[in-house]
Amino acid sequence: VVLNTCAIRENANDKVYGYLGRCKHLKKIKKDLIICISGCLMQEPHEIEEIKNRHQYIDIIVGTHNLSDLPQMIIEANEKNMQKIEVFSNSDIVFENVKYNRDSKISAWINIIYGCDKFCTYCIVPYTRGKQRSRKSSDIMHEVEDLIKKGYKEITLLGQNVNAYGKDLYDDYNLANLLEDVAKLGIPRVRFTTSHPWDFTDSMIEVIAKYPNIMPHVHLPVQSGSSKVLKLMGRRYTRESYLELFNKIKKIVPGVSISTDIIVGFPGEDEDDFKETLSLVEYCKYDNAFTFVFSVRSGTPAEKLKDNTPLKEKEDRLQRLNEVVNKYFLENNKKLEGTTLDVLVEGVSSKKNMYYGYSETNKLINFSSREELEIGSIVPVKITSAKTWSLDGELNG
Ligand code: 5AD
Ligand code: SF4
Repeated sequence: VVLNTCAIRENANDKVYGYLGRCKHLKKIKKDLIICISGCLMQEPHEIEEIKNRHQYIDIIVGTHNLSDLPQMIIEANEKNMQKIEVFSNSDIVFENVKYNRDSKISAWINIIYGCDKFCTYCIVPYTRGKQRSRKSSDIMHEVEDLIKKGYKEITLLGQNVNAYGKDLYDDYNLANLLEDVAKLGIPRVRFTTSHPWDFTDSMIEVIAKYPNIMPHVHLPVQSGSSKVLKLMGRRYTRESYLELFNKIKKIVPGVSISTDIIVGFPGEDEDDFKETLSLVEYCKYDNAFTFVFSVRSGTPAEKLKDNTPLKEKEDRLQRLNEVVNKYFLENNKKLEGTTLDVLVEGVSSKKNMYYGYSETNKLINFSSREELEIGSIVPVKITSAKTWSLDGELNG
């Protein structure tokens, strides 16, 4: 059993300890079971101590920097009956030649940059994932070429902040260059996530607009609509400069959809700041948004900030925010009724003659088709009805 953990918010932590109880029970009935904990939580020293002291039935603890050692650690755990721990804190390692077992045969994630140097004051990622490390472009290109040969139709270039790609590589090669080179390989769909607004250059926007196989969807986390709170968060942009970038992307990339992340209840956020977030959302009318209540992460600068807002009020703000974001998801989707969108067929639904897939703008579409469709084909779908988080349609033609 491998528990791959997340440390981004407190509730992710809590889930792990919930699962551990079940693992302990399993181990009692199956003595040769090997249990491993990996991921971000295991980059936090106090969590490792907790596992070492209170959960000795765990066989392997492995961090994010040496995950590639896991197969060898399993072999050793099988031979010796003792807890094995291997966690490095700040390493320069960039994994290559890892054998992936990919779930999908048509859509693949490709890491292009590990770690993050932004140190937003609320965020644990720079501590658990270490410093920004870009993969060599030649390694990325080989991986994409290999996936194309295997029949993949879509790739997503992945990183905590993909827009910083190449900054640590000592040449001028950046995300705009990489996107362009990958697009030229001819795979039908290229996506990328996540983009920090600070590193978004004009040349990136131009490349997204220029290549029809770079999908017109940008995930652009804003976190807050108040410049005061953005400063406390260490986000390096203001409400005004974010909106300038937002407008530029909307203008230059035709039909682009933009999604975001928002945190409410950051220490120091008052009702007026929160209202600025609401008004920014009213302006941006996002196609999708992931919304969170601020969660204190140990060791981050925000841990030391004074926080006067009761949790109840933060939860209330989240609910008010969700009402507004949901209203726009539906409103944007309604505008698509009657139009025809290209959909990459990802699977068959449990209902007869029903399929699902995503539009170029990353909208989930459930649709009917009388003819049998090949998974991985791109087909025109007429949108018949809009919901908040998905669209219904029928094969056109
Ligand atoms: N509390 C709440 N949300 C957080 N995020 C990151 N750290 C925290 C935190 N401490 C959110 C941000 C980020 C997304 C991946 O998770 O919105 O963009
Ligand atoms: Fe965390 Fe993203 Fe900020 Fe990096 S850019 S510190 S991953 S929120």
